[in-house]
Amino acid sequence: MTTLLRGRLLSFKRAPQSLSDTDCYFYEHDGGLLIENGIIAAAGPYTDVKARAPAHVAEIDHRPHLILPGFIDMHLHFPQMQVIASYAADLLEWLNTYTFPEECRFVESAHAERIATHFYDELIRHGTTTAVAYCSVHKTSADAFFSEAMRRNMRMVGGKVMMDRNAPQGLLDTPQMGYDETRQVIADWHGKGRNHVAITPRFAITSTPEQMETAAALAREFPDLHIQTHLSENHDEIKFTGELYPDAIDYTDIYARYGLLGRKSLFGHAIHLSDREADAMSEAGAVAVHCPTSNLFLGSGLFPLKALARRQKPVRIGVATDIGGGSSYSMLRTMDEAYKIQQLLGERLNPLESYYYMTLGNAEALSLADKIGTLDPGTEADLVILDPAATPAMALKMEVVNNLAEELFLLQTMGDDRAIVETYVAGKAMKSILQ
Ligand code: GUN
Ligand code: ZN
Repeated sequence: MTTLLRGRLLSFKRAPQSLSDTDCYFYEHDGGLLIENGIIAAAGPYTDVKARAPAHVAEIDHRPHLILPGFIDMHLHFPQMQVIASYAADLLEWLNTYTFPEECRFVESAHAERIATHFYDELIRHGTTTAVAYCSVHKTSADAFFSEAMRRNMRMVGGKVMMDRNAPQGLLDTPQMGYDETRQVIADWHGKGRNHVAITPRFAITSTPEQMETAAALAREFPDLHIQTHLSENHDEIKFTGELYPDAIDYTDIYARYGLLGRKSLFGHAIHLSDREADAMSEAGAVAVHCPTSNLFLGSGLFPLKALARRQKPVRIGVATDIGGGSSYSMLRTMDEAYKIQQLLGERLNPLESYYYMTLGNAEALSLADKIGTLDPGTEADLVILDPAATPAMALKMEVVNNLAEELFLLQTMGDDRAIVETYVAGKAMKSILQ
């Protein structure tokens, strides 16, 4: 199956150094993207790519829209689709009042399967082609999550949550159950289709030291797997965590002690890190995942993205929606809020950086840049097609836009799912076939 897309191609080669760093990306105004069996075969000027395509290749003309690698969402919770927009004072109240009771429902396969369908529909509607998700504690939720990913042929990372204390009974496993069921999820799903299983202790508050030992054992047995958890999101959470692990130097040290601090480790939030913690993260190559809409919605704090990225020992950074603490499925809305958080900190997050983070940056943070995150030949044809004039107000503003960076900034500032013309997964158009 071969397809030729025509449109304006944009793909990053590396992290931008400034707004005038035009070498960090590849842009082709009249571009051609040749896709063979779900893989990008060529990307370049339309006439060149057309010349090497088979004679009667199927062509789809997306001009004047932009063709980018599909967005990557580094942290969200699939069982929280009906938690989004819950009115709470802060993280711990939000978890106890809405989130934990809702996640209890995922013991039922029928419920998990129904929500999984909606989950992937929503990702596709918003141009997200890869996401890193928490399931619930129940294996049923992981089964629903991965089987639907496979049905849609999407590259997804996910994990059965491990949690054995400080939550309702219906949401608790035990150290042994968490270990056994995670192993079973790995056996059933890891490497099947495009699925990746992540070892997922929810956070130190909901795991006993005994459970953390089992997470450590899993990390040793499966060193290639991603590990995901939460870190330093909220001041009350940090204080409670310190009381539960009095021997640890700080929050980051708890995970380090259990062998959970490494290059495959993805830490949601990581807002209030000390210098020591940031150094430890940097030395381990661990990733701090910024979730701006969630941090603002729950009043958790202002993530010092620019400061962490420019340290002498820089911290690797990913960006994410954190549904349902987050308030939008859109990575465009997410980066708009990320921009505003840096504004409040007296920092500038330029639009090239934003689009780098949503695509190649997140792919690098996942150690998956050889497969996703660019338009490079040989990588998977997961794509988003963007219309910067999607609404009347956007079209009006487009009249005075002078260059690519301004156009990207307009899309980020005003765009949402309405700006997503199409989402391709392994070369297949997925948005237009949604119900
Ligand atoms: N910390 C532990 N669990 C969660 C969760 O579900 N959402 C957020 N935002 N923080 C958490
Ligand atoms: Zn989270």
